[in-house]
Amino acid sequence: MNSKIQNIQNHLKKPLVVIGLMGAGKSHVGAMLAKSLHMPLVDVDRMIEEEEGRTIAQLFETKGEPYFRTLERNTISSLIDDGTQKIISAGGGAVMNEDTANLIWSSCVSIWLKADLDVLVERTSRNNNRPLLKTGNPCEILSALMEKRYPVYGRANICVDSNSPDVGVTLEKTLTALEDYLKEEIK
Ligand code: S3P
Repeated sequence: MNSKIQNIQNHLKKPLVVIGLMGAGKSHVGAMLAKSLHMPLVDVDRMIEEEEGRTIAQLFETKGEPYFRTLERNTISSLIDDGTQKIISAGGGAVMNEDTANLIWSSCVSIWLKADLDVLVERTSRNNNRPLLKTGNPCEILSALMEKRYPVYGRANICVDSNSPDVGVTLEKTLTALEDYLKEEIK
């Protein structure tokens, strides 16, 4: 087995949480990380959709954003509390809730996937499932979210550039950064 993977598996004692803006690649990179590290992946949005029997867009429309945020907070909190090792792919707004953020900063290793505005705009334009981007110009909305959220995302343990169209490149960068972070942590 690849020594990088082995080092990570040996030293990682907390759940991994992948955060970042819509289009940063959280679901995709999260899935590849889970496969590489042989750990279960939980995509918080998909879990909420399954439990509620509705898409995120339908939930925003019928129950409103605050209802979704409460579900998001409760789901992440129960995933962390169950104490099992896993990769959690969280929606872009998850750490904007103070309780959720505190839980993530204190109990997980957090990875911020960071991509440029034009990349986020292009990726999120490929489908129509993000309610926050339907309320106006997606480029302006994403730009405003960057300003508001980046100071908070900046608290993550690790930040990885996820601009590459090749998700394998981002995966390798993430594994390298994770290995380095864990090495520093045990020093
Ligand atoms: C949101 C991001 C979405 C989803 C919801 C709200 C946000 O997830 O949770 O539409 O506030 O940034 P992705 O970041 O996976 O697209």
